[in-house]
Amino acid sequence: MSADVAEAPTSFAFDAESEDEIARILAKYPPGRQASGVLPLLYVVQRQMRRQTGSAWVPRVAMDTVAARLGMAPIRVYEVATFYFMFNTQPVGKWHLQVCTTTPCWLRGSDEVVAACRKATGIHGWGETSEDGLFTMIEVECLGACVNAPILQVNDDFYEDLDAERTTALLEALRRDAPPKPGSMSGRLNSAPEGGPTTLTEVGGTMDAGAAE
Ligand code: FES
Repeated sequence: MSADVAEAPTSFAFDAESEDEIARILAKYPPGRQASGVLPLLYVVQRQMRRQTGSAWVPRVAMDTVAARLGMAPIRVYEVATFYFMFNTQPVGKWHLQVCTTTPCWLRGSDEVVAACRKATGIHGWGETSEDGLFTMIEVECLGACVNAPILQVNDDFYEDLDAERTTALLEALRRDAPPKPGSMSGRLNSAPEGGPTTLTEVGGTMDAGAAE
């Protein structure tokens, strides 16, 4: 699949699942302030597009639908949707690979992750979609999870502590439509030290005499 604007739909309507979400979202805002819901409604669109087409993106006609629902000028919605890179304004593959290459991830081997992604998908440049339409790869700035660097975000999930081998295994699993549980791929618990905790390992221990003084 290529990210081709010709694939853009000519109409968009919220489905029942989206309408339920929208009712919950808009109930949070006082009367007349529903425009504040523009960001969550754009996420609603993106999730609905994934359900309906397998590609999580926000076509312009859907931005118009959001504008009409919130009583906003369409240009105000376009401004928001094109400012935040979390919204895809072109079609993306089923698995949207968002590789963090900012300094902590780079120091921990993001080059290896990028190389493994390229090798497994055949994608060469940022923003490209693989020939089979399964993967789109982009470069992103710090995802706020440096403690488990390097990080690869796939759709909405973080895969952490990656290296070339783990990245290749992850992409093979995605290709089989069997994504592993998100989180650390090294097996450590959350962001505990590799090899397990080294402090506070006993419950109910006593302080030694020196520490007590
Ligand atoms: S630098 Fe990659 S998560 Fe912070």
